Amino acid sequence: MLVYGGGSIKKTGLYEEVAAAMQAGNISFTELAGVQPNPRIDSVREGVRRCREEDIGLILAVGGGSVIDCAKAIAAGFFYEGDPWDFFTYSARVTKALPVGAVLTLAATGSEMNVNTVISNDQTQEKIGIGSKHLIPRFAILDPVYTFSVPAEQTAAGAADIMSHVFEQYFSANDGAYLLDRLGEAVLKTCIHFAPIAIKEPENYEARANLMWAGTIALNGLLSTGKETDWATHGIEHELSARYDMTHGLGLAILTPRWMEYVLSDKTAGKMAEYAHNVWLVHDSDNFEAARRGIQLTREFFHQIGLKGSLKELGVTVESLPVMAEKAAAYPIGRFKQLNADDVLKILQSAY
Ligand code: NZQ
Ligand code: ZN
Repeated sequence: MLVYGGGSIKKTGLYEEVAAAMQAGNISFTELAGVQPNPRIDSVREGVRRCREEDIGLILAVGGGSVIDCAKAIAAGFFYEGDPWDFFTYSARVTKALPVGAVLTLAATGSEMNVNTVISNDQTQEKIGIGSKHLIPRFAILDPVYTFSVPAEQTAAGAADIMSHVFEQYFSANDGAYLLDRLGEAVLKTCIHFAPIAIKEPENYEARANLMWAGTIALNGLLSTGKETDWATHGIEHELSARYDMTHGLGLAILTPRWMEYVLSDKTAGKMAEYAHNVWLVHDSDNFEAARRGIQLTREFFHQIGLKGSLKELGVTVESLPVMAEKAAAYPIGRFKQLNADDVLKILQSAY
């Protein structure tokens, strides 16, 4: 089953290329089109039903993270008798899945080489991610040329997502992961260097190739090996995209500098200064000063690539802030600094 999104692959000609390759290999296929950004559980349900009816042996996702995530959830749902949403409420575990292949068209999530799938439910206004080794794609094709057509906003949002994946793993309470942190810094510098180039010159192969590679490395499990990771910013952002269908990377770009400011303390200043020194080449010897400068440069970078606006400007209502804070921190989140619902509310308010 060929799974794809709203039609970008038809506009770019990739659809024809994939179909021709299948025909050349004598592989018959059916299609599930129209997977939305922030993929919905309804698409997963439909995919499961169709895979069963049509006796599908492999799911080929051609698209960005949303398409790949939807394909993974369908693959897991195929072998589960109940409603696939049960995986996302943790009332069922993935024990088996159809094989998934991916042809990536947008550098961002790392879904092409990781265990995760993130699915939204309009009825419950939830967006939840799960992970299972059964969901790692069997193969992924990453041709930077397929990302030439990604619009500027999505290129920027993708870069912010990649950077956020590094932050969630880099800002860790436990130290002693020297190599991993240097690798993370390299991914960050790659995004900072190449995202503006890819936005200005969408067909710059070197920029697209480096961003694509960065996206995969940022979230394929490597950077978190042996580390305590944070993931609070992602938890908060998922509330925004669940309720407001916001672009994931845009939400992250707005929240990240606010989260950084909020968690800056005697305990965290050293690590945040390390980020400022190594990524932004900030020279202040005072940890707090360096950390603040690093945060400011992070915010300016997101603005420079077009990711700006307050939550209010993006249509978020003030009444929803406490609701989202309660949901995001139903139990304490974050390991770099643990956050409760009050903390999350303050971060959301500072982004409002
Ligand atoms: O639907 P089509 O027409 O393909 O258009 C898409 C969509 O509108 C378009 N696009 C993709 N490739 C294109 C292109 N347009 C022109 N040319 C191309 N080559 O871009 C739009 C966004 O696509 P989407 O797949 O939603 O973007 P992304 O890759 O950023 O995925 C975001 C989703 O992944 C989840 C996010 O929460 C969100 O739901 N995440 C998944 C993760 C994972 N599986 O590990 C981790 C992340 O933290 C994230 O939560
Ligand atoms: Zn993300």
